[in-house]
Formats: sequence, structure tokens, C-alpha cells
Amino acid sequence: LDLPDADPFEVAREAAAQIAEITGVPSHDVALILGSGWGKAADLIGETVANVPATDVVGFGMPAVPGHVGTLRSVRLPNGKHALVIGARTHYYEGHGVRRVVHSVRTAAAAGAKTMVLTNGAGGIKETWTPGTPVLISDHINLTADSPLEGATFVDLTDLYSSRLREIARGVDPTLDDGVYVQFRGPHYETPAEVQMAKAIGGHIVGMSTALEAIAAREAGMEIIGFSLITNLAAGIQKTPLSHAEVIEAGRNAEAAIGDLLARVVTAL
Ligand code: 6GU
Repeated sequence: LDLPDADPFEVAREAAAQIAEITGVPSHDVALILGSGWGKAADLIGETVANVPATDVVGFGMPAVPGHVGTLRSVRLPNGKHALVIGARTHYYEGHGVRRVVHSVRTAAAAGAKTMVLTNGAGGIKETWTPGTPVLISDHINLTADSPLEGATFVDLTDLYSSRLREIARGVDPTLDDGVYVQFRGPHYETPAEVQMAKAIGGHIVGMSTALEAIAAREAGMEIIGFSLITNLAAGIQKTPLSHAEVIEAGRNAEAAIGDLLARVVTAL
């Protein structure tokens, strides 16, 4: 995947073939990437058919951040569909390039998934949100100045976070709020001035993932739904300094509730 001559879609097809072989599940219907706080959902959405160490699948490295789990899991949902649960996100800030960042999305598409569920832990700009609040992503602003698309691939991003799927999620939890997700490069959190900029340009959520993955998922023809767990308010909105420990802690406290939410949404899709 790191070689300039490598075809990232070919590597994704190889990865999907390995997953089919190891799990015994020839095709998956839906895929989920679980960000900080969302890990418990893997246990709640259905019956685990097989766990696959990410290191056994081509193109997947080990997670660099504690709190991000490095396994792929095949889960049978109550409705009989098969979900590929990816707990091994590669972040853009790790510096391995955008191909590595979106490899799990392309692998999920090659594994048959038509629906991509993207989740993350993120900072909130709306003051009404408290740590532990799950919100739907309505759209994004990509501030990485990068793209997973290579060459003249002009992909439309209208309704990227499917309004149809958001309606389904609201059927499960009518109280779900939504917001525009702003992907920064990280790995530092934003300055208060950068948070004010994100707010001024129409953002409500700040994070370090998801937007590049959503673009790759759209390119692959998948329908996308995105959730952020607000683990803290963004710098300057919250008056106390931010810490990774606080983010993990908020995720842990919300884990059961958001896992249950995700389980019900995935079954309803
Ligand atoms: Cl405040 N910013 C970013 N970029 N990512 C976060 C966060 C903030 N809080 C949790 N993850």
C-alpha cells in the first residue's frame, strides 16, 4: 500500500479475500469503523462470528493510540445481515499517508458492504452538548488539505452523510442532534482561535478522522452514516484544558449507552 506503484483497490480486494477466508463469511452487508468510546457496540450489535487480528490482513497496521482496538470482527445481526466491525482505524496524523487511512473503507467495500457507519470521539462546539452526547454528522468540512482520491477523480459529495440513513437513526432516537464535522489534521487539539474559525465556517464538531474516510466511501459507492460522541467541548468553549485521558474517560462512561444506540440503528438500517 505504501509503494507508489501499488493499486490501493487491488490491495483492498486482497484484504477482503483474506477476511472472507478467515471469517468464513463470503460477503458483508454493512461495515462499521469504531472510534473512541464506540468499542462496546461490537459486542452489542449481534453475534460474533469471528475475530480477525488486524495484523493478519494486508494493509492494516497496529493502532498507534491506546483506546483504539486493533481487531476486525464479523458479526451476524439479529436481521441476519453480516456486519464487518473495524476497530483498527489509522489516523491521518500517524503520517502513513491517506491510502492507509482509507484502506479499511475500501476493504469494507470490496467485502461487499453497501453501507458505511463511521463513528468517532470528538470535541463539541455547541455549548448545549455535554460530554457523552452522541450526535449525527450532517456534513463535513475537510481541513486536512488532502484527499483519498488520486488523479482526476471528480466525485460529488452532496448528501454525503445520507439524509435517508439519518432519518432511520432519528426513528431509533428522536432526541439525536446533528452537526457539521470539521476534520483537522491533529494530533494536537485546536487552539481556541481555530475552534472559533471552525464555528465561523459552519462547523459544530471538531475531530481528527472520518471526513477522508467518508470521501473514500462515497467514491466506492457506499451509503454513509456518521456519529460523533462528544467527549468534551472544544478548546475555549470548555474552560479547562483538554486531555486524551478525559476523552478516553468520557468514552468509557458513555460506552454502554452509545453501544446500545448503535446496535439499534444498525439493525434498523
Ligand atoms: Cl476538542 N478536537 C479534536 N480535533 N479532536 C478531538 C477533540 C477536540 N476532542 C476529542 N477529540
